[in-house]
Amino acid sequence: MCGIVGYIGLKDAYPIVIKGLKRLEYRGYDSAGIALFDGNNLEVTKTKGKVADLERVALEKNSKKGSIGIGHTRWATHGVPNDVNSHPHYSNSENLVIIHNGIIENYEPLKKELVARGYEFKSDTDTEVLINLIEDVQINEKVSLEKSVQIALNQTIGAYAIAVFDKRQEDELIVARLGSPLAIGVGENEFFIASDASPFIEYTSDAIYLEDGEMAKISLNEGVVVSKIKDGVAVDPYIQKLKINLEQIEKGGFDHFMLKEIYEQPHAITDTYRGRLLANEGVIKMAGIDDNIDKFLNAKRIIIVACGTSWHAGLVAEYIFEEFSRIPVEVEYASEFRYRNPIINKDDILIAISQSGETADTMAAIKLAKQRGAFVFGVCNVVGSSISRESHAGAYTHAGPEIGVASTKAFTTQITVLALMALRIAKQKGSIANSQYHYLLHEMEQIPSKVEKVLEQNDTIEKVAEAYKDSDNCLYLGRGFNFPVALEGALKLKEISYIHAEGYPAAEMKHGPIALIDEQMPVVVIATKKGHYEKVVSNIQEIKSRKGKVIGVVTEGDITVKELADHVIEVPETLEPFTPLLTTIPLQLLSYHIAVKLGKNVDQPRNLAKSVTVE
Ligand code: G6P
Repeated sequence: MCGIVGYIGLKDAYPIVIKGLKRLEYRGYDSAGIALFDGNNLEVTKTKGKVADLERVALEKNSKKGSIGIGHTRWATHGVPNDVNSHPHYSNSENLVIIHNGIIENYEPLKKELVARGYEFKSDTDTEVLINLIEDVQINEKVSLEKSVQIALNQTIGAYAIAVFDKRQEDELIVARLGSPLAIGVGENEFFIASDASPFIEYTSDAIYLEDGEMAKISLNEGVVVSKIKDGVAVDPYIQKLKINLEQIEKGGFDHFMLKEIYEQPHAITDTYRGRLLANEGVIKMAGIDDNIDKFLNAKRIIIVACGTSWHAGLVAEYIFEEFSRIPVEVEYASEFRYRNPIINKDDILIAISQSGETADTMAAIKLAKQRGAFVFGVCNVVGSSISRESHAGAYTHAGPEIGVASTKAFTTQITVLALMALRIAKQKGSIANSQYHYLLHEMEQIPSKVEKVLEQNDTIEKVAEAYKDSDNCLYLGRGFNFPVALEGALKLKEISYIHAEGYPAAEMKHGPIALIDEQMPVVVIATKKGHYEKVVSNIQEIKSRKGKVIGVVTEGDITVKELADHVIEVPETLEPFTPLLTTIPLQLLSYHIAVKLGKNVDQPRNLAKSVTVE
């Protein structure tokens, strides 16, 4: 939620910050702003709308000067999205300026105290409270900007990644993080700050990821000086070499990131199992599991926590783990898990699934499980993310940067990792037959080329999209391993086309959703050959006798469903546990094409954000 970018160096900050904000727009896009310092003036330009709107306003004002700049793209929490609530925020004296990602939970009492001391507030934001608190400390304690930020932050409760600039200390930027990500790019005679490294990868491959509870003073003279927010004790920063390249974060000829990412799935899945899956040798190598195999063998229960699409991947994993590893699995929304009083035992394993590795609720669930003695295993995509660092062990998905807000390749690569984990454990445990194990390993190697074959159906899927783009509702049905795929298909449609959609286990249709079916209701039914095929065919008949429209996702060569359904999309045959890796693809493409045809902003759907770092 919210993206922050900053530059301090010898170049013009404006184009660097603007380009960086565009790369971070996936984090929030209801307003944007920039503060620039040109050696004399500190000028803030901000507006409701996207970064492109900010560019227009900046052009009108002709305010693009300065070699120090901080910028923000917002996903509103406190205060509606409007010009005034947009970041950056000045302090009352207008000497200080701040950008902030996160929430200051105790902003109300702090604000009351500041108002009592004569401070005035223009916006409804918690951020304006924080910058005035910093100013208040600076005035009363007569300490440096760095010290003032440290003292002020120690009075706050909440989460933040911030950057603060004082026009009287023109050669330094102060940054701090607690609960929201912050990376510092270290260049030659220049430094960058950002919510993730994408804004600065063309300038430097050296990055420092601040840890929670750390702050840094960044200046051209002294470089990056990191310390603890709590007590100011110096910390040795670790400079990490970045592995992402520019190509990975650009559209590469596709109209949208979402489409590019859908098409990247064959590669992303291969990258995810490469080096881990040695099918000919009958071996799965996963350091995070290998090093902790006893914990998995002795686990009484696996609890999976996640949000959104990652939660759906968790549901698929439940079926796979229980089928092969024979360990009981519970899948929980992280937000529900953390706010009840869950029973967690020392021999439970908590698997946290998160593309971004920053989702606040998932992070909080991990902390709770750790406090209660559980072993925590993270499945994340973003290397070095908060969840990956907070976990005892983990496995990355290697999907590459996912920028489209609607998650696609993260889902299929999460399933890939989780399936590898389940099979690795099952083999060691002896809970899977040898022949089946080898069969599954070899089949996994075929999945990328089978995904390619599904992608070849794009034109057919686009025609289906044309036929149903004006629907108000849509139902998705699936059974077994494909029930979570039905949920995911419905989520994709809701997210980017704003058409109401629901996913159900096919057999549950008769307990309610069947009442919705009439000639206006498209029903997407995943009816692949394995997995209670005959029962699903009966469900299709039930829909057709009520005049519903059926879009069947079927196994290549299927005849039965073809005769019954209004449309069919074929996927190659595979082993049942791997069907979600294929059946998901047409549902992603279907929602993509519907959203495009409806003229929706596919990569930045309204009200959503990719990385949800607020609770
Ligand atoms: C947001 C995104 C979803 C994502 C969910 C969980 O809602 O829009 O696409 O599935 O967060 O994110 P995570 O990064 O934890 O997988």
